[in-house]
Amino acid sequence: MIEAIELTKTYNGFSAVNRVSFEVAEGETLGLIGTSGCGKSTTLKMLNRLIEPTAGRVFIGGEDTRKSQPEKLRRSIGYAIQETGLFPHYTVAENVAVVPRLLKWPDKRIARRTEELLELVGLSPEEFTRRYPHELSGGQQQRVGLARALAADPPIVLLDEPFGALDRITRRQIQQEFKQLESLLRKTVVLVTHDIFEAVTLCDRICVMDRGIVQQIGTPKTLVFQPDNDFVRDFFQADRFQLELYVTQLQDVMPWVSAQESSSEAAKRYTEEEHLLTVLEDMEESSLKSSRVQIVDRQNQPILTTHCQDLLTAFYRFKESF
Ligand SMILES: Nc1ncnc2c1ncn2[C@@H]1O[C@H](COP(=O)(O)OP(=O)(O)O)[C@@H](O)[C@H]1O
Ligand SMILES: [Mg+2]
Repeated sequence: MIEAIELTKTYNGFSAVNRVSFEVAEGETLGLIGTSGCGKSTTLKMLNRLIEPTAGRVFIGGEDTRKSQPEKLRRSIGYAIQETGLFPHYTVAENVAVVPRLLKWPDKRIARRTEELLELVGLSPEEFTRRYPHELSGGQQQRVGLARALAADPPIVLLDEPFGALDRITRRQIQQEFKQLESLLRKTVVLVTHDIFEAVTLCDRICVMDRGIVQQIGTPKTLVFQPDNDFVRDFFQADRFQLELYVTQLQDVMPWVSAQESSSEAAKRYTEEEHLLTVLEDMEESSLKSSRVQIVDRQNQPILTTHCQDLLTAFYRFKESF
C-alpha cells in the first residue's frame, strides 16, 4: 500500500533522513521509533508531501506520489499530530469536518459522521461539538485531532505522536481503545512514537531509526529477541524483562512447556494470543506457585493446563531458542 524507497531529506548538507526504505502492507500498522531528532516526523511528512524529499520516492497504491497533486494526496490520507493543529476559531465539529467539507459531502452526512467520530474517540457529541479548542484539555484536543484524521474514512492514516499530550494512564487506556477500533483495523497506518510500549502494543512491525538511518525493521518480537545491532539492543534495554514478557504470547511458549497438569480444577483460562505479562500480572495477585493456567484455542477448547511457574520456565527455553 505504501512503499518508501531510499527517502532522503537534507538540510544544508545535514541528512535529517538518509535513504530510508520500507513497505507498509494494506491493513498493516508500521511504527517509526527512535530518539528525538532521528528523523521520524520528517519521514512521515514525506509520505504525504508536507515535505518534499531531497531524493527517493514514495509509492501509494502503486502510484508515484510525485505525479499526484499534493492537496489531493493529503485529502486522501488521514494525518494527526501531537500539536493537534486544530483551527482555534473553528468549533470541535467544524475542525472534525474539514476534509469532508473539502470533499463537498452533504451537510447531513457530515453531521452524522462528526457525531459518530466524537463518540468513537470518547467525547460525547452533546457536550463537545460546539466547544472551541481552547475549551478542551490537551488530551481532549488530541482526541479531536484523531477524529479529524479519520473523518473522511481514508484508507491510510499517518499519526505523529498522537497520544503524546496524554498522561501515562490515559495514554495506556486510549491505546487499548485505539487498538480495538473497528474502523482502524483495516486501515494502513504509519505511527510515529518514542514510546516503546505504545509501539509494541499498536504496531505489526516497527522501524527503528537513528540519526536519519533505519537500524532495523521487524515485528516487536524480532526486535526484542533478535536485535540486529547494539543500537537496537540498547534501545529496548530499559524495562527489558517486562518488554520480553509483553511481546511473548502463550502460543510462543506452549511448545516449551514440559510439565502438564492432569486436572484443570481452579485453573484460570487464557487464549493462545494472550501475552505472558498479562498472565503473570494476574497471577502475582494470587499466589504464584500454586496457580494453574489453562490455555484454550479460539473455539475455547482446552489445549493444555500447566502451572504458572512452568510457563516461566518455558519462557526461558523459548528465549534461548533464538
Ligand atoms: N526545516 C528544518 N531545517 C533544518 N533542520 C531540520 C528541519 N526540520 C527538521 N530538521 C532537523 O532534522 C532532524 C530530524 O527532525 P525530525 O524529523 O523532526 O525528528 P523526530 O521527529 O525524529 O524527532 C532534526 O535534527 C531536526 O533538527
Ligand atoms: Mg517528531
